[in-house]
Amino acid sequence: MTDLTPTKDILDPIETASRDEIAALQFHRMKRTLKHAYENSAFYRKRFDDHGVHPEELHCLADLARFPFTTKSDLRDSYPFGMFATPRENLVRIHASSGTTGKPTVVGYTQHDIDVWADLMARSIRASGGRKGDIAHVAYGYGLFTGGLGAHYGAERLGCTVVPMSGGMTERQVTLIQDFRPSIIMVTPSYMLSILDEFRRQGIDPRASSLKVGIFGAEPWTNAMRREIEEAFDMHAVDIYGLSEVMGPGVACECVESKDGLHIWEDHFYPEIIDPETGAVLPDGEMGELVFTTLTKEGLPMVRYRTRDLTRLLPGSVRSMRRMEKITGRTDDMIILRGVNVFPTQIEEQILKCPGLAPHFQIELTRQGRMDAMTVHVECHASHGAAEARHASAGELAHHIKSVIGVSTRIEVHDPEGVERSAGKARRVVDRRPKD
Ligand code: DLL
Repeated sequence: MTDLTPTKDILDPIETASRDEIAALQFHRMKRTLKHAYENSAFYRKRFDDHGVHPEELHCLADLARFPFTTKSDLRDSYPFGMFATPRENLVRIHASSGTTGKPTVVGYTQHDIDVWADLMARSIRASGGRKGDIAHVAYGYGLFTGGLGAHYGAERLGCTVVPMSGGMTERQVTLIQDFRPSIIMVTPSYMLSILDEFRRQGIDPRASSLKVGIFGAEPWTNAMRREIEEAFDMHAVDIYGLSEVMGPGVACECVESKDGLHIWEDHFYPEIIDPETGAVLPDGEMGELVFTTLTKEGLPMVRYRTRDLTRLLPGSVRSMRRMEKITGRTDDMIILRGVNVFPTQIEEQILKCPGLAPHFQIELTRQGRMDAMTVHVECHASHGAAEARHASAGELAHHIKSVIGVSTRIEVHDPEGVERSAGKARRVVDRRPKD
């Protein structure tokens, strides 16, 4: 793989600033954000008043813990435009969640917000190894989802030539990668696997492709999956994180030279880790729910937004900003099976240990009598399609899951292409248990 370590002169000065400088900037911006939210958003004014706090009471960064949390249901309750801290006419763009689990959540951006987003996405692409002049193939979905347009504007800002492919039409994805020879691809890791299958289907060696870096996010994925993709394409696979409520992609990103967790762009977002049960702030290094306060957003400032993503904060490494460990999963995706907590990422790790199995999978939850049961649907590699080979793979996976995670599961090994595919975020869990 190509060495893409950046020289210090191309980084933003804040990326290598001292912790004191970062903290001073954060404090200044946090004060301004709380004041802006309180003065310009009826939602925040009421929320702070009800909670008995005032922006003037922030005397140090730790005082943020005195302020109330914001949640996804606050956004739903304010649907569509009720939480904005600027008149609607000042917003230049709206994005929204798909709303599959209720009303969609709507987010809005001023021109300044869009500019900051493009800058931070450009910083993320650079951290991932992208440079001005590179061709960037964007296969995140374009539209109300923030992935496509977020990646697009960031790549343009860095000076890349952008191919706005969007998700889907997998055959065409491969054709355009072969013809345009991009060095960067931005896509969900699960859809990258579909693109990989299509390379093989067309008889093209993925290792011979022009791709040098993949910038993968929008869903949890493991270091085992990183190894799988890096090996298959002979390219770097870098993790990027973000969420629409806080901005979109580019809130945090790994650096290609270390791949040791995602550096949070702390000049624009203040992270906390809380105990999801009690809401108490946990010290760095402890696992819990990630919470963000935006430090520069105008249209939709977010104060202590509960992401429901589980991770822990680590000190800076190749940048001064703190890192978050790769996301383990969302609190909503945690499966509790006979008293054991299971995350889809743990299942992914075990599948990748089985040479006969492809990394596509879906978990099905059912109830038999009073007992919950879990079935892992997975695919065999074409070379391991014979009945005995499948049987052996199923046994191997069940054994790994039982011995590492501690739960008994049914394994169904399907033909290649037999597990549901998505051109965006994969649906890892299908819950068929009766609602009670
Ligand atoms: O998924 C933004 C995005 C687009 C990020 C493209 C990265 C790349 P939402 O649709 O609002 O926004 O979903 C946000 O997706 O709270 C996480 O649960 C999950 N997520 C995003 N990035 C990662 C990641 C976009 N790198 C939700 N690892 C977040 C794990 C991720 N989960």
